[in-house]
Amino acid sequence: MALFCNIIISPKPFVLSCSYQKTHLSKTPQNTKQDPIFKIKGPATLSGHITISGSKNSSLALLAATLCCSGTSLLHNVPNISDIQAMASILSSLGAKVESFDGKMMVNSDGVGKVEVDLEEMRKIRGGFFVIGPLVARFGEAVVALPGGCNIGKRPVDLHLRGDGKVWAHTANVKGLVGGRFRLDYPSVGATETLMMAASMADGITLLSNVAKEPEVVDLARFLNDSGASIEGAGSDTLVIRGKSQLYGSECVIRPDRIEAGTFMIAAAITRSCISMSPVIPSRASCLIDKLSEAGCKISQVDQHTLRVSAVPALYPGDDLKSFGIKTSPFPGFPTDLQPQIMSLLTTCTGSSLVEESVFDNRMSHARELQKLGARIQVNGNSAIVFGKDKGSSLCGSRVIARDLRGGASLILAGLAAKGTTEIHKIEHIERGYENIVTKLQNLGADIERSTLPLLSSLV
Ligand code: EPZ
Repeated sequence: MALFCNIIISPKPFVLSCSYQKTHLSKTPQNTKQDPIFKIKGPATLSGHITISGSKNSSLALLAATLCCSGTSLLHNVPNISDIQAMASILSSLGAKVESFDGKMMVNSDGVGKVEVDLEEMRKIRGGFFVIGPLVARFGEAVVALPGGCNIGKRPVDLHLRGDGKVWAHTANVKGLVGGRFRLDYPSVGATETLMMAASMADGITLLSNVAKEPEVVDLARFLNDSGASIEGAGSDTLVIRGKSQLYGSECVIRPDRIEAGTFMIAAAITRSCISMSPVIPSRASCLIDKLSEAGCKISQVDQHTLRVSAVPALYPGDDLKSFGIKTSPFPGFPTDLQPQIMSLLTTCTGSSLVEESVFDNRMSHARELQKLGARIQVNGNSAIVFGKDKGSSLCGSRVIARDLRGGASLILAGLAAKGTTEIHKIEHIERGYENIVTKLQNLGADIERSTLPLLSSLV
């Protein structure tokens, strides 16, 4: 459940005024007549090469950071997905000039004069909240809604605000931010990114400790430094930021999406296939590579940015992929955004596995959808025992619902391995974060299509 509230951040002590509106976060606008679905015929065997798109989460952070820059920023390799469109609308609603063409986005935020964000757009995505950093830094104020995004747990924003409040405290009577010291209670990706942007334009030095080390944080720091900021320590648990009064728009190529790459690596494993993919930054996928190798997959680096993943049965004659346990944790630990996809794979391995989710407090809803496909999974709070194909799991096509982005991806993977036809509803969740996923899978030989059903027969 989410509370919508206007948060007015001003030089004076923090003021919160709320108009309570209770809404179910995953309530996405329905096309009145048609219900778009994915239809998958399995089991599939994949082959060939896949091109990985630019990172959704890096793009969202860098687009927010263009608000810190005067002049024009040019981002290359930006994925064409609905989350990015929502972010572009948020920037435009503030007065930024946003143009997108051929996978590029050009943003000029000189015209930004508003501090009130388009609340409707902000309720669609989590990343929209990250704009409070630049807005507070530039204007001393921001009017935002509590963010939307995947319904995978409580997802508070206290660290974003307390961080800002802390940095703020020193400036009550002067214009603009002044640096400070702040230790995050938890290495939150979003809070690290928001505070990094705010501190980049604060007066003096800011020291942020226990910060997130995710690659997306490193990408943001690189873009801000190219725009004139002074950020040291990105990728470690401490950031030292020397604030600058002005940053200037710069050009940047968005790094490949490590979660999309991970999803396709698991697609190769679950279909016992061999595919290659690029561009990939192997060091950003090392945890997954270790786990898939432990299961029996063969992962080889074809060149600097190309990986081949093979799970063809010849690799383990008379045997099959073995089960393994995972516990999600902040980078470089096992990414929570690959937990649902791994759960699908584990239902096809031999043996049983323990899956523990430690980052979000409610990221198991895909398990009950996988059970509809014949998976045997025992959920207990934030952990689950996944029984393999020799322990009662046997995937067969059925009708299922995508309840969030990565949960939806796990259903596609299960559908590729299941016998018969799988129908996935509420695919808008999946299309938020995967660019052209149907075409990419078709190019690998999967029998998948995007079709629409009259609403009456949908599973809404
Ligand atoms: C980012 O979300 C990603 N989203 C998520 O990806 C990803 O799962 C997550 O980082 C972890 O890697 C974007 O970058 C847009 P967090 P974010 O703040 O920033 C708690 C996907 O599928 N927390 O690191 O929201 C929070 O409740 C999405 O692409 C606080 O308590 O993640 C959670 O339990 C899903 N207070 C934990 O920290 C705060 O102020 C991790 O959240 C902030 C967070």
